[in-house]
Amino acid sequence: MGHPTSTMKVISKISEMQEISKEIHKKNISIGFVPTMGALHKGHISLIDIAKKHSRFVVVSIFVNPTQFGPKEDFNKYPRTLTKDLELLSEKKIDILFAPTDKEMYPKGYGTYIDVPDFSNKLCGKSRPTHFKGVCTIVAKLFNIVSPDIAVFGEKDAQQVVILKKMIKDLNFPTKIITGQIIREPNGLAMSSRNKYLTDKQKQNASIIYKTLRETANKINKGERNIPKLKKFIKDGILTKMTHSSPSENSLKIDYIEIINKNNLQQPKTLKGECLIAVAVWYGKTRLIDNITVNC
Ligand SMILES: Nc1ncnc2c1ncn2[C@@H]1O[C@H](COP(=O)(O)OP(=O)(O)OP(=O)(O)O)[C@@H](O)[C@H]1O
Ligand SMILES: [Mg+2]
Repeated sequence: MGHPTSTMKVISKISEMQEISKEIHKKNISIGFVPTMGALHKGHISLIDIAKKHSRFVVVSIFVNPTQFGPKEDFNKYPRTLTKDLELLSEKKIDILFAPTDKEMYPKGYGTYIDVPDFSNKLCGKSRPTHFKGVCTIVAKLFNIVSPDIAVFGEKDAQQVVILKKMIKDLNFPTKIITGQIIREPNGLAMSSRNKYLTDKQKQNASIIYKTLRETANKINKGERNIPKLKKFIKDGILTKMTHSSPSENSLKIDYIEIINKNNLQQPKTLKGECLIAVAVWYGKTRLIDNITVNC
């Protein structure tokens, strides 16, 4: 690295990370934690800023977690940009980057998994049936390694936040979850490491997703409460506008459109309180997710 202002330490061993966390806690210093899969962007950076505001000692992890990828998913070609990530992180002056190997986290014979089935089978869980089991397992492991007082997660993965809060409550983790709002490209597209898979033209067209979510939120704010009608508006908006403006680009397929209670992911009879409008679409081989919260 050789960054002159950097005091960041890079750690790959679990035992070393645990030792350091123990020392920090002994000094009564709070630990803030931001777990990531790397290929860092401004969304990740915003979570680091939140962690810094809440805690004196900040740990970021980079680990492309194999157990949260399905057998046919993009684990092997997932963007890995460690050199650039290291530069970004040393500029942010975090305290520790924890970047273990797959073998360190899942040694031969590994066999324990955490499941929150009530919340994991819907939305993203329908097309990614083992995804959240992998997420819960790795987050629980990371919490036991880093011992954070607070951990910061992005609202982009709204279902993940609900599931992890449930896991923390059920398993009595002493860590508090704080969320960060969705950081977007100037055109509205939610930032995501997987956006690297998109062509410039696709990135431009994909801004229609958020535009449609905003239009839908406006309709709700103006009094529209008919859920099937609102869902159809989103479907038609995304399908016609994204396909129309780019007939030659890759195929477009809606994975899901849901309008649900933000705190329990249930489909309400009538919209009330904090409602989450969440969508996932396949744009060629890239799966994009986005959401917006509306107070009803
Ligand atoms: N645009 C964003 N704004 C705020 N937080 C984000 C954003 N994108 C991701 N995050 C959060 O960053 C954390 C790490 O996510 P991850 O490393 O999987 O990045 P990602 O961009 O979501 O990658 P992918 O494209 O694979 O989904 C998660 O808590 C996630 O919700
Ligand atoms: Mg993600």
